[in-house]
Amino acid sequence: MELTLRSITTEAQDIVSLELVSPRNEALPPFSAGAHIDLKLGNGLTRSYSLVNDPAETHRYVVAVNKDPASRGGSQYIHEQLRSGQSLEVSVPKNHFALVEDAPLVMLVGGGIGITPLYCMIQRLEALDKPWKLFYSARNRQKCAYLSQIMALEAKHPGRVQLHFMDEAGGVPDLKTILAAVPAAAHVYCCGPSAMLQAFEQATATRKPDTVHVEYFSAQQEAAVAGGYEVMLARSQRSFQIQPGKTILDVLLAHGVAMSHACQEGVCGACQTTVLEGTPDHRDSFLTPREKSCGKTMLVCCSGSLSDRLVLDL
Ligand code: FES
Repeated sequence: MELTLRSITTEAQDIVSLELVSPRNEALPPFSAGAHIDLKLGNGLTRSYSLVNDPAETHRYVVAVNKDPASRGGSQYIHEQLRSGQSLEVSVPKNHFALVEDAPLVMLVGGGIGITPLYCMIQRLEALDKPWKLFYSARNRQKCAYLSQIMALEAKHPGRVQLHFMDEAGGVPDLKTILAAVPAAAHVYCCGPSAMLQAFEQATATRKPDTVHVEYFSAQQEAAVAGGYEVMLARSQRSFQIQPGKTILDVLLAHGVAMSHACQEGVCGACQTTVLEGTPDHRDSFLTPREKSCGKTMLVCCSGSLSDRLVLDL
């Protein structure tokens, strides 16, 4: 979709939100809490961002973007180049981090800009009048987006929000202790920096897997670029040798294969491809451990091959 960037708003230090609307003021495709959209940026990059606004809204999509000092070009471009009034190519919303709306309790754990899908979930749970709790950690108060809105909800019904500012507390939160106090039947969600997600996964390792939900927004492992294997595309009957230093996606794009992709670091799922033969070397943070062990699907932007040949359903 070609949408208009109606406004850019500073939400916290180094965090801006983008409000995207239809140029003809038409309703946009609906989305559910936890969904994300891909933005095609004018610099050739495509990036995925979680929707932060209330899913009941059909007239706009809102995403928030942190200016990442280690930006690979996406967040820097958004902060420095985008101007309100511009058009942007935007995907329809997709959701790989869906909210279980009938959970007896939803416990949300957010770090920094990871608050975005969680604040969207909070608005949905408020609309449904369902119980939720939030543990929200940030470097300091200035870096804490949507804090006033969240604290207004907390004031309405105290005891639901716990804040942790690392500059004040002198370190990272103890997620093990925090999650130990959460009932086993609760559904627990985490979105934040890698270290927080890893601590969360350790702290929830004994919970039922279908009650634990994580969303990574940066790579956990290096991409597989050792090369030295063949990729065969079953439908088009084309075959490529993957050279050292290249991912499968690099090679396919270089040869004009139209492959859907966005983050290029194994977190968004846009490049997910069915594997017909061979053994993938999974490097993504998107597939579940079970999906990885089945080997029937892979993310070609970062994963490689443990076998001499992979046959993909392309
Ligand atoms: S492009 Fe995002 S997971 Fe591959």
